[in-house]
Amino acid sequence: MSLLEQLTSILAQPPADGWQSHDFAALDQLHIGGLAATKELLRWLPAGATNGLDMGGGLGGCARLLATHYACQMTVSDLNSDYIAAGQLLNQHLQPQPACHYVVANSLKLPFAKHSFDFVLSQHAMMAIADKQQVLAEAARVVSAHGHLLLHEVYLTPNSKPEEVLYPTPWADKLGHSHLQTWAQFLADCATSGWQLSQCENETQQSLLWINKARAARATPASPLNARLALGSAAGKMSANIMANLQAGRLEVRRALLVKSA
Ligand SMILES: C[S@@+](CC[C@H](N)C(=O)[O-])C[C@H]1O[C@@H](n2cnc3c(N)ncnc32)[C@H](O)[C@@H]1O
Repeated sequence: MSLLEQLTSILAQPPADGWQSHDFAALDQLHIGGLAATKELLRWLPAGATNGLDMGGGLGGCARLLATHYACQMTVSDLNSDYIAAGQLLNQHLQPQPACHYVVANSLKLPFAKHSFDFVLSQHAMMAIADKQQVLAEAARVVSAHGHLLLHEVYLTPNSKPEEVLYPTPWADKLGHSHLQTWAQFLADCATSGWQLSQCENETQQSLLWINKARAARATPASPLNARLALGSAAGKMSANIMANLQAGRLEVRRALLVKSA
């Protein structure tokens, strides 16, 4: 059964009080740290930022949270049309429906005019993209002057070698499809693509705690709406590899806030 067929069947049996956005969190927060990491990232949402793009937004969990609890108008873009259709379906099962618009698009060539958004956010959506300067330049093009970029991404640690990282992970089935950088390399690309760093936190320790807990709870999932629906049968192997890569110090997780350069 396809993702959409499975979702349609599960969503047809709502809880007594109807579907709430947090019921979807194990499925639509497709990144290390889940919903808690998203809430942590959104503490940096700049005052007055109400119109945002969730770039590589997957099933749109972060965007729905922003629309529901932060009064934002959100657009979710993603290359994967199944994820975009699933995000739309989840949206339709919430009352009131969050103010989210869903678009199939490549982050390397966004179908939005210059200055369309106050902010762009990206969670675990840059590691599969080789041309970081192009994706960062596209994000800079579509935000307004002094607009912001909120990031929650995975990086190579300074001394690790790309070939030591274990795959599959949620962003790549094998080394050849993965485009990890160190934080220092990424910052250099930011500087040449129109972004200045405002804040950054290394989230690796919290990420490890979260993934340990998530893996312990995995044997008895609280809901059929979980990451396996989106990631398929390799989901367990992916989370084991993420944990091993973080534990061995090959990868690190960071969140950051950047401001568009003048
Ligand atoms: C690990 S998922 C994260 C999804 C979402 N940001 C989240 O945290 O729940 C990575 C997402 O990046 C998307 N992606 C990868 N390369 C992309 C590209 N070039 N353009 C748009 N989306 C892309 C994938 O389709 C996938 O949905």
